Amino acid sequence: MIKVRNLRKIYKPSKKVQVHAVNDVSFEIDHGSTVTIVGPSGSGKSTILNILGGLDSQYMGEVMVNDKEVRKYNPNYYRRHVLGTIFQQFYLIPSLTVAENILLPIKFGKQLNKAQTMERLMYLLERVDLKNRANHLPSELSGGQAQRVAIARALMGKPQILLADEPTGNLDSKTGREISKLLFDLNKEEQTTLVIVTHDKKLFKQASESIYLRDGKTVKSL
Ligand SMILES: Nc1ncnc2c1ncn2[C@@H]1O[C@H](COP(=O)(O)OP(=O)(O)OP(=O)(O)O)[C@@H](O)[C@H]1O
Ligand SMILES: [Mg+2]
Repeated sequence: MIKVRNLRKIYKPSKKVQVHAVNDVSFEIDHGSTVTIVGPSGSGKSTILNILGGLDSQYMGEVMVNDKEVRKYNPNYYRRHVLGTIFQQFYLIPSLTVAENILLPIKFGKQLNKAQTMERLMYLLERVDLKNRANHLPSELSGGQAQRVAIARALMGKPQILLADEPTGNLDSKTGREISKLLFDLNKEEQTTLVIVTHDKKLFKQASESIYLRDGKTVKSL
């Protein structure tokens, strides 16, 4: 379902400087699989995730999702229904409650009616164990709880693919284990393809495969 062919990304922060962040990377990710992208700092992981996530269209090569080039999707549709993204910094809106944050991706969508929306919201609140926090503000949550809101929000539009950049990076190891279990359980329950950037060895042991990067290139192992 995801096919990346000869992907290259060059950042040009100024006229004289070029950073070859991704250098001819190719890989495929099957529907429903769990894949981790691992590699040292600066190896191009977030760059690839941003491109897959439709946040950066300045690249060379092919990035196909369901046989369609990512750049050809309607960006709003792509980011709401094809894929959900969980960022390391959560990016919850501080003035909105937990429930309102989760509803954000479909606020302007017409795919679900009101009853279906509420049903999906209640299901996700239950699934991330935050029913009793639905009307709280992000400032009243712990780090693990905020991460769970970010997961529920990413899943609200029933995306086919869930992208996560270091989802356990800011959490203690017990909370990290709970979050990774939740991600892998959701992969099974919703058949969501899971793509995780991580330094966490436990996460990439659970994944069906890993893509190893070094200096913007794929390598066999680290
Ligand atoms: N906006 C940018 N402008 C210029 N160079 C950039 C930019 N973003 C990233 N880079 C460079 O591209 C390379 C890859 O960066 P990237 O953020 O993809 O690494 P990463 O593997 O996610 O690292 P980390 O594990 O530290 O998050 C690095 O050399 C980085 O300095
Ligand atoms: Mg990164």
